[in-house]
Amino acid sequence: MKYIIEHMDPEMFQWCVVEYRHAAEGVGRENFLVTNVDGQDTSRLKGIETRKEKAADLKLSRVCVLDPAAEKTLEPADAQRFDHLVFGGILGDYPPKARTRELVVPGAERRNLGKDQFSTDNAVMVAKQIISGKKLSELEFVQDFVVQMDEGEEIILPYKYLLVDGKPFISDEIIEYVKEHGF
Ligand SMILES: C[S@@+](CC[C@H](N)C(=O)[O-])C[C@H]1O[C@@H](n2cnc3c(N)ncnc32)[C@H](O)[C@@H]1O
Repeated sequence: MKYIIEHMDPEMFQWCVVEYRHAAEGVGRENFLVTNVDGQDTSRLKGIETRKEKAADLKLSRVCVLDPAAEKTLEPADAQRFDHLVFGGILGDYPPKARTRELVVPGAERRNLGKDQFSTDNAVMVAKQIISGKKLSELEFVQDFVVQMDEGEEIILPYKYLLVDGKPFISDEIIEYVKEHGF
């Protein structure tokens, strides 16, 4: 299975870079691709395959777009149906603006991972777990991640996080980024 993130934000923000690297670590770099990076600074995505083209232009077969608004939920049996899973490289917004509908790949089917919004790296990892045989209902999650700031304050990241070995799937680099730059 190839996991493809279609970069859709206007810049290659540091937050995107960290999420893409984290997703690549989760599924293995050899199974991972970032598309639509024409004119973007990709130097920080070291070791990750990138393409200038959009996924729609790569003539991929057996494609599924992961979209919270899709009618069907991704299932383990979809491992036999698809070779490419495409995710929106869209920074999470709250409330969500449903921008994934702009991610159109001709001939692709669409699947959700439930109704709640995941960060892109979490969406990739949840899909990987399902494709590896676990149903969405068998996975464990936590809603919101709280970053403890040095001054005793808290910043809440309002997303749903997959629990991997009991811990939220979040990059240490994101936590450091939030501590330094806020959210
Ligand atoms: C942070 S989300 C952006 C969602 C965006 N705010 C929207 O409403 O479409 C980034 C990507 O992760 C994937 N994703 C996140 N939550 C999902 C869900 N519940 N079902 C399917 N895909 C999801 C989608 O591919 C989405 O484009």
